[in-house]
Amino acid sequence: MASQTDPSITIDIPLTRDDHILIKHQITQGLLGNPKTLPSKLFYDERGSILFEQICTLPEYYQTRTEHHLLTKWADEIISLSGAEELVELGSGAATKTRVLLDAMAKADQLRYYVPFDVDESIVRRVSEELAWEYPGLQIHGVVGDFLFHLEHIPEGGRRLVVILGGTIGNLLPVAAREFLVSVNTEMASGDFFLLGVQLITDRSRLEAAYNDKQGITAKFNKNIIRVLCDNFGSHADPEAFDHVARYNEDEHRIEMWLRSREEQILDIPAVDLRVHFKQGEEVRTEISTKYDHPLTEELLASSGFELVKWYCDPNNLIGLALAQKP
Ligand code: AVJ
Repeated sequence: MASQTDPSITIDIPLTRDDHILIKHQITQGLLGNPKTLPSKLFYDERGSILFEQICTLPEYYQTRTEHHLLTKWADEIISLSGAEELVELGSGAATKTRVLLDAMAKADQLRYYVPFDVDESIVRRVSEELAWEYPGLQIHGVVGDFLFHLEHIPEGGRRLVVILGGTIGNLLPVAAREFLVSVNTEMASGDFFLLGVQLITDRSRLEAAYNDKQGITAKFNKNIIRVLCDNFGSHADPEAFDHVARYNEDEHRIEMWLRSREEQILDIPAVDLRVHFKQGEEVRTEISTKYDHPLTEELLASSGFELVKWYCDPNNLIGLALAQKP
């Protein structure tokens, strides 16, 4: 499905019946597993995307502003090394940091094509309209989909820079992260560049504070997954029947978000014909956010077919940006 409002914007929605079957299958598998889990992509309906944007401005959530600073510092170099005329962003969200790269491309007279790729249709449309207005002459080709399955919908537009920012890669288990980057690599041409933003391993107190903000926005974001089950899968569950829990798992170097059932209850999901029993205090894991370091990142890139060109990080070692190339 493609739609055309502004002539500089195309939006692709490659979701088919099979994809709806797949997400249902993922929900069922996750809730029947031990521990119980839910797929993190469910967070991102329109409300979830807005809550995540609010998280990005929280004082405790150092990740976004640190990455923004790093990008601001190195964007010109990244754009000149890559020679890119097409920017492809996987998990583009509100594309706030993207503007830093687009500005650098415009300045170098390299800006032709931008491809925002996200699971949330509302944010792909909003960002496409905003950017078409802000960057006259820029061709925008949005893709609404799951980047684990729909990468082949990325259009061809010239020398590419593919970016995954914000530590989005951390949502995947390391094995799945490698498989995903292999498929990204497969979609790229030899010589194309790849920029991967990773959140770095740091002390527990700083990490746990970032996911337990005082205003409770992260808790709202976490509970939004229950609202999505209600809105899209027929559930009658009460988001407030769960408590937000976020803790650092040091062995796996990842933050884990869980929802803890306040009472014994049945979580009904009619769309997948499921009724899941929760004991009081029982938890369902809604997200992992894996933290990396320089060697782990280099290993991840090398094992998925990339060569590391340059490693950037902030003075406090909180965020890394790995610029890599497909040989
Ligand atoms: C979008 C996956 C990078 O893991 O830090 C923020 C999501 N969850 N606060 C992260 C998130 C709770 C975020 N990522």
